[in-house]
Amino acid sequence: MVKEKILVIGASGQIGVELTLALRKIYGNSQVVASDLREENPLLKGTGPYVSMDVMNKEMLHVQVIRQGITQIYLLAAILSATGEKNPNLAWSLNMQGLLNVLDIAREEKIHKVYWPSSIAVFGPTSPKKDCPQQTIIEPITVYGISKYAGEFWCNYYHHRFGVDVRSLRYPGLISYKSAPGGGTTDYAVEIFHEAIEENKYECFLSSDTYLPMMYMPDAIRATIELMEAPSSNIKVRTSYNVSGMSFSPAEIATEIGKCLPGFQISYKPDYRQSIADSWPQSIDDSVARNDWGWKEEFTLKTMTIDMLENLKP
Ligand code: NAD
Ligand code: SER
Repeated sequence: MVKEKILVIGASGQIGVELTLALRKIYGNSQVVASDLREENPLLKGTGPYVSMDVMNKEMLHVQVIRQGITQIYLLAAILSATGEKNPNLAWSLNMQGLLNVLDIAREEKIHKVYWPSSIAVFGPTSPKKDCPQQTIIEPITVYGISKYAGEFWCNYYHHRFGVDVRSLRYPGLISYKSAPGGGTTDYAVEIFHEAIEENKYECFLSSDTYLPMMYMPDAIRATIELMEAPSSNIKVRTSYNVSGMSFSPAEIATEIGKCLPGFQISYKPDYRQSIADSWPQSIDDSVARNDWGWKEEFTLKTMTIDMLENLKP
């Protein structure tokens, strides 16, 4: 059996840290090379190899892939929805060119598998709001959503045209306690826990009834690894799979936190992120992922809230 050597690009980010640690558990510490533009996340220090790298520098990326004998790439470097609206050109350039660099090198070096996440941000105001299906009207209104939708079709193209085994999930908003989120519209659902513990109150940048699809990080990591370990013949969607965990509003998560932290207060001051959130579906139909490779979430709003507070407690 071939010993896999994995490169994680964007390993110091919210998903990268936890995914790198999970992959190191499965494949062995030395088999998973973490890389990022910024410094190594403290949680990764001493757990395996790290290289400082810019995914936009294709030559450097290519050299690292050859030098390290890389057989799989997880590409997580991107600019998320809220930051993307502040600098659309940069978001488009990183989100597109980073992906094309990886897909080209994967094709040339016959990389076994590539993972690249898409997002619920591909959907726009004309997509169904409830139980948004895998295939539907998709007209994103953020540069982030446009870049993700275009990226999905590049993945599909490289798979069908060049045989690159690239797989993808449309993550909902991800909630975690290990590494901070990186500038998304769903970040409120992480901030709220930190503020609840420190201040017992939170001012939310979305309105009380803004329902969004969300997922707890352990489910997201498991979904990613299950997708990547599924037999290739099961992966029938080569753009990106809808995956769902839960759906809630700021008012609902505040109520759930209040059950554990009596007296917790939430107030609302919607900003520019409200219109981004309003353009996305409230919940996702992921029946195609369930049928193709057996996806099923574990965490509910209640169990996630208890686990988050337990882990963030001083
Ligand atoms: P993040 O911002 O926390 O992490 C991204 C990492 O990429 C950062 O550590 C950053 O330093 C690094 N990076 C940025 N530019 C780089 C470059 N040029 N070269 C190398 N590294 C660079 O983001 P995240 O939340 O971990 O998201 C990872 C992926 O998952 C992204 O593609 C994102 O769009 C997608 N996603 C995330 C969520 C979520 O809720 N977190 C939801 C849907 C999709
Ligand atoms: N959590 C991400 C964001 O809000 C969704 O892709 O940008």
